[in-house]
Amino acid sequence: MSMTARRANAAAHSIQKVEAFFTTYNAAVKETPAVADFTFGNPHEMPLPSVVNALKTHAEPQSVDWFAYKTNEADPCAFLADALSKELGLPFEAEDIALTKGAFGAIKMCFTMLLEPGDECIVPLPGWFCYGPMLAAADAKEVQVPLGPDSFDLDLEAIANAITPRTKIVVVNTPHNPTGRIYSRSDLQKLSDLLEVKSAEIGHRIWILSDEPYRRIRFDGIGFTTPAAVYPHTLIDYSYGKILLAPGLRLGYLAISPTLPAAERKELQTLRFAVQMADGWNVPDAPLIYALPDLENVSIDIAALANRRERMLSALGQWGYRMTKPEGTFYLWGRAPGGDSDAFAECLQKRGVYVMPGTVFDRPTDFRICLTATDEMIENAMPAFQAAANLMLE
Ligand SMILES: Cc1ncc(COP(=O)(O)O)c(C=O)c1O
Repeated sequence: MSMTARRANAAAHSIQKVEAFFTTYNAAVKETPAVADFTFGNPHEMPLPSVVNALKTHAEPQSVDWFAYKTNEADPCAFLADALSKELGLPFEAEDIALTKGAFGAIKMCFTMLLEPGDECIVPLPGWFCYGPMLAAADAKEVQVPLGPDSFDLDLEAIANAITPRTKIVVVNTPHNPTGRIYSRSDLQKLSDLLEVKSAEIGHRIWILSDEPYRRIRFDGIGFTTPAAVYPHTLIDYSYGKILLAPGLRLGYLAISPTLPAAERKELQTLRFAVQMADGWNVPDAPLIYALPDLENVSIDIAALANRRERMLSALGQWGYRMTKPEGTFYLWGRAPGGDSDAFAECLQKRGVYVMPGTVFDRPTDFRICLTATDEMIENAMPAFQAAANLMLE
């Protein structure tokens, strides 16, 4: 028997393929330095000056309790409730908001609030690889449900078939990592209708966790509907790490849908502090909380991202790659030429170009490119993508 907790080992098992990739990647970069790094959603240029200025301003103490314990401070929560009400068209109150350490913190909070040991949580496939370990740590079960082939739409039939009496949460990630898909209001309405029926059938409520950290990274003027607008039993998680391209600044929130029936809304509002405390003071550091209003409207250059998307799609398309055009996020998802993403990634690696193989997403035929790389990296990588297509498609 292991000395360490079963839940910890289950989390380790769940994240193993990502860790294995990370180890290989670190070793490979030492041998063949990156001319282009398209792996993780990390910055490759200096941080936005407005982010730096906001941090400097709010790191300077203005009172004795500047760095005292902070919770869901009234002013930033009221500010956010107002901003979110305008953005999402729903009447949020300050008490609906919990300030968390990024989207990770908000997701953790949702799991602690809603999941009993052994409960099941439906997540998209392909999908973000940290739901699994976080669910394992909550002693709950990840149930991966494939998105529609090619379209990456929500597959309602597959979701319906995956629901069991233990289902407690369905994660909707929109815009979706890694495909960039944004779900329409009518698709979300259909999911809502299904979950109403299924909740009645199994005799308890199935919740939606709407994972929206890429909500504002959208292209071509496409709109956004939060599942909270169509399904009252929805919790929204958000992070500033993506829009500011500063994932090391742990700032985000969990928001309760204002359409939730009053008694349930109150119950969740009341639980906020206890859960955040019990999860290890899951609250952003004080300067980040003060900086929040200054950061709310700061954004990386979305037009530049859109240009990179176009540049990559047209170049890769011409060499026979089958890529999905993302509607949002900073990722490109496509089929690895030859259908073996590990072999393809290795072929690129030898030329100093690093992508994320689909094995990391349990989709070993596909691969992901992260467009937070610089324009220069993109140009540097072109010959390698062309060579890899020639070699792998032979
Ligand atoms: C789909 C999705 N959800 C949540 C997160 C967590 O975001 P953060 O690290 O900003 O908390 C990420 C980060 O990559 C993500 O891709």
